[in-house]
Amino acid sequence: MAFPDIRPRRLRRTPALRRLVAETDVRPHQLVLPLFVREGATEPVPIGSMPGVVQHTRDTLKKAAAEAVGAGLGGVMLFGIPEEKDAVGSGATDPHGILNLAITDVVAEVGDQLTVMSDLCLDEFTDHGHCGVLDPDGNIDNDRTLEVYAAMAVAQAAAGVDLVAPSGMMDGQVGQVRRALDAEHYIGTGILAYSAKYASAFYGPFREAVDSSLQGDRRTYQQNPANAREGVREATLDVAEGADIVLVKPALGYLDVLSAVRQAVDVPVAAYNVSGEYSMLEAAAAHGWIDREPAILETLTSIRRAGADIILTYWALEAAGLLTR
Ligand code: PBG
Repeated sequence: MAFPDIRPRRLRRTPALRRLVAETDVRPHQLVLPLFVREGATEPVPIGSMPGVVQHTRDTLKKAAAEAVGAGLGGVMLFGIPEEKDAVGSGATDPHGILNLAITDVVAEVGDQLTVMSDLCLDEFTDHGHCGVLDPDGNIDNDRTLEVYAAMAVAQAAAGVDLVAPSGMMDGQVGQVRRALDAEHYIGTGILAYSAKYASAFYGPFREAVDSSLQGDRRTYQQNPANAREGVREATLDVAEGADIVLVKPALGYLDVLSAVRQAVDVPVAAYNVSGEYSMLEAAAAHGWIDREPAILETLTSIRRAGADIILTYWALEAAGLLTR
């Protein structure tokens, strides 16, 4: 039998061949940079748990957004840190709340050159740190929270955001937000839904980034890391409720979920390369235990390969530079 001499290594022989047959690429326009803005800050405040990431002032936030345009990024995701918190997260729905002001600032700065997105969740604004409002027994009141999310969505849309990003994992949140936006004639404002969001230890560094007041955990609303099918179910429900884009979070421990969601829905799929994934790599690199830049690019490539059309990553600006050099 004339068995052909099959040698897969032929296609790995030169950089040009490897590039020619690459199945996956990462481009700057697929990357979204999360940005934090702190009410009352006069200088950017470094976040100890996330080396290289800061809480911006309103002014430096605009500069960061302009840099994102310059780097050709796909968008920015805004998070606000208010000076005052209360039980119902009033700062979230106040048109003069820090996040709503920041949206207006950034949209004025970048216009249509960048997709501006905003976190739609109460945890930064509540004194108890939960993503929703509580009932008298201290449990999350899902349906009362939906009413607050609806008002928050309208406030963000009024400020000019392109995509609101409900991330609180309340049942029915996407449908309620869609109805509220439509009722106020914000038919062009889209929804990036955090559909499969897991109760993850890998959000640890983020809690410092937003000065979280959380006691306890989010396991009654965020998903159990043990469940993949449930992530697909959540994403399918969100598409039915009107999500324009669905998101899986975290990314690296959940590449199987990402892949399954990509196959199950026909809208764009995003993944959030979260704070813990960022800080682990940064810490190892700081010790000289890992080669930082290739590790960053391999991380992003893996998330794309698993099926993400869009990646939210704290490395977005730097990675854009690495990818175009
Ligand atoms: C909720 C929210 C969180 C993150 C993004 N949106 C925190 C949480 O659910 O506890 C985490 C992001 C990260 O870890 O990078 N508003």
